[in-house]
Amino acid sequence: MKALILSGGHGTRLRPLTYSQQKQLIPVANKPVLFYAIEDVIEAGVHNIGIIVGPNKEQVINAVKSVDWDANIEFIYQGEPLGLAHAIKVARDYLGDDDFVMYLGDNILREGIVKHLEHFKKGDFDASILLCEVPNPQQFGVAELSEDGKTIKRLVEKPKIPPSNLALVGIYFFKPIVHEAVENIKPSWRNELEITDAIQWLIDHGYKVGWTKVENWWKDTGKPEDILDANRLILDDIKREIKVKTKAKILGRVIVEEGTEIDENTVIKGPAIIGKNCKLKNAYIGPYTSIGDNCVIENTEIEDSIIMDGTVVNCGGRIVESLIGKEVKIMERNQHPIGRKLVLGDRSQVIL
Ligand code: DAU
Repeated sequence: MKALILSGGHGTRLRPLTYSQQKQLIPVANKPVLFYAIEDVIEAGVHNIGIIVGPNKEQVINAVKSVDWDANIEFIYQGEPLGLAHAIKVARDYLGDDDFVMYLGDNILREGIVKHLEHFKKGDFDASILLCEVPNPQQFGVAELSEDGKTIKRLVEKPKIPPSNLALVGIYFFKPIVHEAVENIKPSWRNELEITDAIQWLIDHGYKVGWTKVENWWKDTGKPEDILDANRLILDDIKREIKVKTKAKILGRVIVEEGTEIDENTVIKGPAIIGKNCKLKNAYIGPYTSIGDNCVIENTEIEDSIIMDGTVVNCGGRIVESLIGKEVKIMERNQHPIGRKLVLGDRSQVIL
């Protein structure tokens, strides 16, 4: 069994962050989203992993190589993001004749994949998918089940009128027959080789396609609000661990990493995580906040937000529900003329 984890694509819905950063590397609770997928695959006993890389391939390769994984990891370059089924085509040689799990590197699944993989193996399926009930099925691939609910009748990609509220999770198990399916489908209206079409091909040609239901939460971190939501859900599960000495008031489940200095006028209310080598002075860090490494937060309140590595905030007031990239500076203007002074990249969003 192998794994194919997708970490290519342009991440247009996450601009401006994705102008400089590959989307699967955006941190949730101070860990790149992609690492959750790698951990799940290894936990399920799969130790041969191919990672599809695209536009910012060096970034992904460097980030993955910075960790000592219990796995053999290879990187497979996809020149253009021409679809999820296209990624399988590109990985044809790597996958050989092995069964594999394909895991979209921007998905996070609370319960991991162990029981879903077991179902695939026990049922001797040619393919098996994961389904999750969602309130907005129009934004996903959607499954229509047979009357008795046992088999999948039809899969549609982002339908205007969804046949059910069962979204396809971005995790799929395949036998090598999927390669024949991928060779036989045509690009969709968005000029992508869709994985839903490849699975539909398997269904239409009499192959055995199974499914399992997701019991816990699942997040596709495609948009900023999804990333903040994933951050809340992950932080809900952390345990208190303060690795530094401080006289600050730290309440509840808070992680503070080594090298961070927190003065006695600072208050932190969990769940929250503060990275390494930060400086917090006269600050309030509220619930559901992740602060990356090497950040400075002074005279400011921050709540329900993600602040990435190397960012400096000293602006007074309170920042909420915000996703702030690396090495950003947010300062207070204390000279005339009084007003807002902004230097913002393309497609930034500021709500003042
Ligand atoms: O997240 C679940 C959904 O993922 C499913 O419900 C849909 O059926 C499936 O098509 C997919 O939809 P998305 O629109 O979310 O896919 P997206 O284009 O965002 O790509 C998913 C991931 O795969 C993302 O991390 C980028 C990566 N990717 C994407 C393409 C198209 C690649 O590495 N190569 C590609 O060619």
